[in-house]
This record gives sequence, structure tokens and C-alpha cells, in this order.
Amino acid sequence: MKKKKKEFIDEKDEDIENGVGDDDIANDFNKNIDDLEKKNVDSKRIKNVDQTKKRATVDSVFDERMYLQLSKLLKTGTLGRIEGIISAGKESNVYLAYGQKNEEYAIKIYKIDTNTSRWMRNYIIGDPRFKKVPNNVSKIIYLWASKEFKNLKRAYKAGLSVPEPIYTKNNVLIMEYIGFESIPAPKLKDIKTPKDPVNLLNEILYFIKNLYQKANLVHGDLSEFNILYHNQKPVIIDISQAVTIHHPKAEIFLVRDITNIFNYFEKVGVEVPNPEEFYYEVINLD
Ligand SMILES: Nc1ncnc2c1ncn2[C@@H]1O[C@H](COP(=O)(O)OP(=O)(O)OP(=O)(O)O)[C@@H](O)[C@H]1O
Ligand SMILES: [Mg+2]
Repeated sequence: MKKKKKEFIDEKDEDIENGVGDDDIANDFNKNIDDLEKKNVDSKRIKNVDQTKKRATVDSVFDERMYLQLSKLLKTGTLGRIEGIISAGKESNVYLAYGQKNEEYAIKIYKIDTNTSRWMRNYIIGDPRFKKVPNNVSKIIYLWASKEFKNLKRAYKAGLSVPEPIYTKNNVLIMEYIGFESIPAPKLKDIKTPKDPVNLLNEILYFIKNLYQKANLVHGDLSEFNILYHNQKPVIIDISQAVTIHHPKAEIFLVRDITNIFNYFEKVGVEVPNPEEFYYEVINLD
């Protein structure tokens, strides 16, 4: 993706790999945010929140909490303004926001929810990057957001087509916005006739292969629902559940990812390669 000028400072890449525990992760989230928070607040510059969307989001306690998180980022001057919701999901909401120089960002905020944390826990257990698994609901969700951030970072560093990760703290993840002005890129599932489907398929297969071979990750929830179609190119999102290739379920996830993608392209009339051959091509690290 196009390189954006970094306005935010992100956390150390090695934390998860070194098995930093939940307490450390909770306490150690971007120490730099504290500096930002100490900055003088220009309250006149803030609160340009879409009132309709705000009203819609304060309906539940969780959403109110999310709104407070966003207000904090606005107050500290980290963000200039928030345009509104791009997506309201079960586990997270995604917002479009603008930075101080009017540059766009996508903000994903995970909901602090007991049921969500329960299934997240199962993905965290077995990932060699996590030595300790927190019991506390919020901490599991925070760990999850940091997991998505770190997975994005690995993929981005490997030169793959994912939004650039910008910043994370607690349940908030800020990343590059994929879209044109206020119109977010559509999901691949909503594209009935992609322009050059063979090329599109090849780019997605390149992603799967290099995510495995260069970033040593398996996406785990790859399908036309988690691929944005931007500039006639795929941009892969929602990488929070991705696991390292050593995870006990990595193989199962890889097979499922490949199957989903091949099914979608068969539906749009593209001749796909033999899935088994492609699978072996991916896992062949020699
Ligand atoms: N960086 C981004 N730029 C533009 N839009 C984005 C970005 N990230 C996410 N979105 C939009 O927000 C939606 C939800 O994001 P994502 O898939 O990461 O979260 P989710 O919790 O899995 O939600 P869902 O259950 O709706 O898939 C995406 O389908 C996409 O439309
Ligand atoms: Mg998704």
C-alpha cells in the first residue's frame, strides 16, 4: 500500500514474539500515547462528530465506552475529526477519521464483550507468541487488538496488500483507510464482475503464499468478506485471528482460506488451480 507519513508511534514489534504477558501488554501499550495525552488540549478543535452517528452509537453501554475512547483521541489532538461509522459489527465498529492534516484513517474499535472474549481466548491459546492468556475480559480484547496490529505489521513489512497499521491502544486500532474520499472500498463479495478476475485471483494467491512464507502467518478468516476491492486490486483486512504457521490449527485454517477463495472465483467463472497443489506450493518453504 501507499506509504503514509507516520503521525502516530507504534509499539515494539518484538513484544508478542518475546511472549510479553497480558499485564505488560496492558500497561505497556504505546507509552507514547501518554505523552500525547499530556499535551495541551485544544478543545475547540475537537468534537466534530457526526451527531446522527453519535446518537446511534450511544444506544448501548459498550458503544458509549467506544465513543469515549474516540473522544479521547480527538481531545489529545491525535485525530482531527471523526466522520462516522463505516461498519457496525458484532465484535467491532470501524470508523472513518481524519488526522491533523486531513489525512484519512480507519479506526477499528473492539467491543468489550464476554462472549467475544471467550472465543478469542481459544485462538490465543496455542499461539506460541502468547505465553500467558489473560482471564480478564478487557485484557483479552486488548490483546486481540494488539494481535491484529502486530499481524498487520508483519504482513505490511512483508510488502503485502493490507492497510498500513498506524497505532494501537487498548481496544482501539488505527490503520490506513482504504477508499476514495468518504466512500470506503467495497468488499469483494459485493463485486459481481471484477474487472480482471484472473489477475485478482493471482494477487490473492500471492498474498496467501507470501503471508505464509514471508510473514509466517495464516490469515484464518480469508474470504470475499474480508477482502476490499480498491483500485481494482485486493486489499486484505480483518487479520486479527491470523495465527503463526506453527499454530496447531494453522494447516486447517490454510486449507479453509484456500477453499473459500477458490469457491468465490469458481462462482465468478474463473478457472482455479488445483487446490491441493497450491496448498503444497504454499507450505513448501525450501
Ligand atoms: N482499513 C479500512 N478501510 C476501509 N474500510 C475498512 C477498513 N477496515 C475495515 N473496513 C470496513 O469495516 C468492515 C469491518 O471490518 P473488519 O472485517 O476488520 O471487522 P469485523 O469485526 O470482522 O467486522 P465484520 O464482522 O463486519 O466482518 C469491513 O468489512 C470493511 O467494510
Ligand atoms: Mg470482517
